[in-house]
Amino acid sequence: MQCCTVISDLHLRIAILVLALSGCFPVNVSAQTTPATIQFDSTSGVFRIDAADSTYVFGVNEVQGLQNLYWGGHLAASDHFATAHSLPEVSSFDPSLTVTPQEYVGWGGGLYVDPDLKITFPDGNRDLALKYVSNRIDGDSLSIVMKDISRDIYVTLNYQADGETGILRRSATVENRTGVPFTVEQIAAGTWSLPRGTDYRLRYLTGRWAGEWNVQERHIEPGKTVLESRRGTTGAQNNPWFAIDREGAGDQDQGEVWFGALGWSGSWQISVEQDQLQQVRVTGGPNAFDFAYLLKPHEKLTTPDFYGGYSSHGIGGASRLMHRYEIDSILPRHPAPNLRPVVYNSWEATGFDVNEAGQMALAEKAASIGVERFVMDDGWFGERKNDHSGLGDWYVNQQKFPHGLKPLIDKVHSLGMDFGLWVEPEMVNPNSDLYRKHPDWVLNFPGRPRTEGRNQLVLNLARPDVRAYVYSFLDKLLTENDIAFLKWDYNRNWSEPGWPAAASNSEKNVYVDFTNNFYSILVELRQKHPNVEIESCSGGGSRVDLGVMRYTDEVWPSDNTDAYDRLFIQNGFTYAYSPGVMAAWVTDSPTWVNSRSLSLEYRFLSSMQGALGIGANLNKWTNEDLDEARTMVAAYKSIRETVQRGSLYRLIAPENNSEQSVTETVSRDGKQAVTFAFLHSSRELYPFPLVQLRGLEENSTYTLSMIAGNVDDGTPITASGSYWMHHGLDLKLRGDFQALAFTLTRTK
Ligand code: DGJ
Repeated sequence: MQCCTVISDLHLRIAILVLALSGCFPVNVSAQTTPATIQFDSTSGVFRIDAADSTYVFGVNEVQGLQNLYWGGHLAASDHFATAHSLPEVSSFDPSLTVTPQEYVGWGGGLYVDPDLKITFPDGNRDLALKYVSNRIDGDSLSIVMKDISRDIYVTLNYQADGETGILRRSATVENRTGVPFTVEQIAAGTWSLPRGTDYRLRYLTGRWAGEWNVQERHIEPGKTVLESRRGTTGAQNNPWFAIDREGAGDQDQGEVWFGALGWSGSWQISVEQDQLQQVRVTGGPNAFDFAYLLKPHEKLTTPDFYGGYSSHGIGGASRLMHRYEIDSILPRHPAPNLRPVVYNSWEATGFDVNEAGQMALAEKAASIGVERFVMDDGWFGERKNDHSGLGDWYVNQQKFPHGLKPLIDKVHSLGMDFGLWVEPEMVNPNSDLYRKHPDWVLNFPGRPRTEGRNQLVLNLARPDVRAYVYSFLDKLLTENDIAFLKWDYNRNWSEPGWPAAASNSEKNVYVDFTNNFYSILVELRQKHPNVEIESCSGGGSRVDLGVMRYTDEVWPSDNTDAYDRLFIQNGFTYAYSPGVMAAWVTDSPTWVNSRSLSLEYRFLSSMQGALGIGANLNKWTNEDLDEARTMVAAYKSIRETVQRGSLYRLIAPENNSEQSVTETVSRDGKQAVTFAFLHSSRELYPFPLVQLRGLEENSTYTLSMIAGNVDDGTPITASGSYWMHHGLDLKLRGDFQALAFTLTRTK
């Protein structure tokens, strides 16, 4: 976020634009989208943003603050907003500044809610009063300049509106023109204010290793709820996403929802605060805990992007908007990112014990069932026999691969697949040549213990020499080998986050510089190797956010591959993120996770709700298993575009101890709907609930085709959209751990 990183981000955007224009990335902008409009009424000082089904309004008030006036459903063009007036002091305890819904506010005066910006100046002064200066509208983008009342601190607020989904992207850039360095102690991208109300419910995501993506709900009470990570990275314990609806007034497809996500893969925070006047505001940015950023004269610091959206179609509608936005506006090759190939991954089959002959044998089996990408996981490099050694030494292990990686890669290519490789670039084992040579390269406080996690330490990627090392080994790997895909892993969180080589007043810049260097490596690699795809993995789903998704093509949601547990994990994941980026492997049964045995059909159907992969030991599969897998992989390819790009409906979410789970996805062109249904166990002769589909055209005709399992014998093959949505289908699901799937194809 220093000057130089801002420039590299700009370079990225330009590079993507150049590549898009030169035809390397297919551009496929939806024809029906009405562009977003941004207006400024200079008489009233009111800004109005209209995008898709939402309207967002704020204005310059009489003290030159920026004050939110409205965020919600789309308003008529004729609806008029008068000049903003800050709210009066409620009592001597609650001054005007703190009760007025602020769009972006510095800490100063009598502000008791979360500030967007807090600065300490070298003279000890910590008062910051930002006032509106000017604005610039450029199509769907708006920038507003604010300045402190006496010091030359300029803050530019950036808004970008998406005409397709109505999602707004916000960020802020602080510029130091004071002539002396100062320390930013807290910085947010911005604050979202909801209509005043007391009946709000907050949804958010929590988790842990092998148990990510739990959907939580809580009533919003007076006071503050902070969703956060203090771990140096996104974390699984909270994910930087929120959704707020009105309690009792909404469900999966109905009711108003205000939602958002922060695009930042470092420590982060989103605070949801109900203030003294019961106004709910949501502020998001890097975590203020232990944060500091020394901003020198002429330098700029830009925050991560904070995205916000509105849906009147319930939490399901909010998820669908997020999914569409991710595919069309976030992912590296947007608006037409590649569909995810069917992957084979060696991890659960061979662990660290990879070698040329063993991987070739697995590759043959994988190709025979229709796999398109073969990925060799951990264990191929350095002295990597187990997780005690080798991380950091990114040369091919000679015992395991005496002729390098080429013979294996050639073999994989000859089988018609492309080749992917696991790396964990930001980590080092103390038992490695790299650490022996550069013990000073890790995060540490001198003279203090260095806490290990999985026997590894975190390289300080904020250091220019570490960044250069990481970039150069990855570039070499990709230059010397025909690699189509990197699985980029990150298997622990930070501890002792010291940067002894930095000046003591800028050591904490590590929180920003580390993450920006991580992003800039991804950017540079993609520029130099434009065909390479990358997965963000962090011991499962610990680094999934809209920041890393700008530079990675898919993510790994969890190391838990038990197909039943995955129903819950995948359900939570899709509240915020698209199934089109959600890698999902079929693994062996019983699972290592909890010794549960599940049929191959069940395991496939569970994984086919995302980006299908195989992670089992195929050497143990019978010919019948391989035949069944071949059929399922072929079926997946026929529904892949719908699953990865379509509109997802949670017909029965596996929540609140539900015995069932049913998802339906309708393709973007409306021609295909795919439904997956799962039963945990039936009881007391109760039939499976009738499944009434959604998102079809009432008057069109759809033809039913089973992928697996059966529906009631009386079910018609062909019927109207009305029939499938209102009458519904009676599924033949009885017993324990049963599953089925079917498609409906629009025929008229
Ligand atoms: C954690 C990942 O989530 C796994 O899939 C696997 O790649 C291991 N790391 C390898 O060490």
